[in-house]
Amino acid sequence: MPAPSRRFSRRTFLTESTAAAALTAASYSRVYGATERVGVGFIGYGLIGNRHVTDFLKEPDVDPVAAAEVHRGRLAEAVAATGGRAKGEADFRRLLDDKAVHAVVVSTPDHWHVPMALLACAAGKDVYVEKPMSLFVREGRWLADAAKRTGRVVQVGTQQRSGKHYQRARDLIQGGAIGKVVSVRCQSLRNAYPGFGNPPDQDPPADLDWDQWLGPAPARKYNPHRGIYFFRWMWDTAGGQMTNIGAHHFDVADWILGLGTLKAVSSSGGRFALTDNFETPDTQDALFEFDGWTASWMLRECSRGAYAPYPLEFFGTKGSLGITRQGFLVTPDLDTPAVNTIPGVSSGHPAGGPKPIKVVGGPRPRTEAITDQTGSEDEQFRGHVRNFLDCVKSRTAPHSDAESGHRVATLCHLANLSLRLGRKLRWDAKTETVIDDAEANRALVRSYRAPWDRELKAIGVGT
Ligand SMILES: NC(=O)c1ccc[n+]([C@@H]2O[C@H](COP(=O)([O-])OP(=O)(O)OC[C@H]3O[C@@H](n4cnc5c(N)ncnc54)[C@H](O)[C@@H]3O)[C@@H](O)[C@H]2O)c1
Repeated sequence: MPAPSRRFSRRTFLTESTAAAALTAASYSRVYGATERVGVGFIGYGLIGNRHVTDFLKEPDVDPVAAAEVHRGRLAEAVAATGGRAKGEADFRRLLDDKAVHAVVVSTPDHWHVPMALLACAAGKDVYVEKPMSLFVREGRWLADAAKRTGRVVQVGTQQRSGKHYQRARDLIQGGAIGKVVSVRCQSLRNAYPGFGNPPDQDPPADLDWDQWLGPAPARKYNPHRGIYFFRWMWDTAGGQMTNIGAHHFDVADWILGLGTLKAVSSSGGRFALTDNFETPDTQDALFEFDGWTASWMLRECSRGAYAPYPLEFFGTKGSLGITRQGFLVTPDLDTPAVNTIPGVSSGHPAGGPKPIKVVGGPRPRTEAITDQTGSEDEQFRGHVRNFLDCVKSRTAPHSDAESGHRVATLCHLANLSLRLGRKLRWDAKTETVIDDAEANRALVRSYRAPWDRELKAIGVGT
């Protein structure tokens, strides 16, 4: 496909950045009237792109200017979903050239997130980019820096931050409702045994521009398991459930506790039982160390186990808070004297052993039990879209900014790296490097396939 005529130059990006940085929030809001319409360009119309078109169109101040897709059938569906208002483009760069597009929504596979977002920032567009924000650690830093330098609004698609019951849970935890938080547990459990089959490499469907789909990822022969939806389980294009589901859970942990003090990551697992041709683990356990607390991740793709209602749970000295997209539960611990928690203490240890303390009326709960079932995915998705549009106008930081997206994706990438290298990684959060591990540090960066390496170098970013 011929490339559009527009070419960004490093100079243009930097000049533009300096100008943008000079604009204050106040001057931006003068530029953008509160009732003004936001021209939106949609890139990628799959499972989530479809949802985003619907949600953005529900906002009264959105003009769907254009949609880009590399699958012809999906492109036609995207245009139809806007009632024919959006121009359909096979090459997303044409959206970036279009002055009527003020903001883009990147709903493509993970390997495209940062390159597209960087090019969009360089073209002066604000960006709503899906999670996980990055494919590898360094590119997340490039985007977080570019967002800051250019003054662009970058919202990452971790919509839980815009959900009211998540906000209530955050306020409760930060207000001390479960005491001092010492640990967070995250999980993703299902039984997909024996897996999704082994389709052979083959010619891409006639409707799909496979080269543009691959973009900056390594050249590979088409396989349905590398393409639409299934890219999630291949290392070239994603990071398995760790970055797919884990990014959501750890985003909430970042928002409530902050992941900035990450010190070490160790992870084990593998593709132990699924017999298909995917690459990412079907079983993974990971442990993360922070200042004063730990977090764990448990992934089971081929064993569901007993029903575990809360895939994300915060443990504090007064109790725990488990949360889903539908609601949360605060479970108080009992204010039992420590000695009474010793096994066998009430039936009696031999002479000289610990003796129980009598508590009149029995131990009381250390905190209030709370059940909240008010959550809805619709509210979270729509709230996140609205928050983005409001920030486009006010030039304020969105709920899920690029720095948070980078912290979260970094943690997920490090867990996968630890699993693949077979060792614990100690992390220097200041320099964003693995301590004393040259091989791990080399894996924090990947190269982009031509011509995307040149496109990105031209705007001053890249390997
Ligand atoms: N926030 C959430 O809750 C949520 C939910 C689902 C997916 N996601 C994220 O959204 C992303 C997309 O996932 P999906 O399930 O929608 O995948 P999908 O495969 O269904 O859709 C992705 C679409 O992007 C298109 N695409 C690929 N390269 C393109 C290019 N160069 N230009 C234009 N379009 C291109 C593909 O053809 C495809 O239609 C993933 O990163 C995923 O993690 C987030």
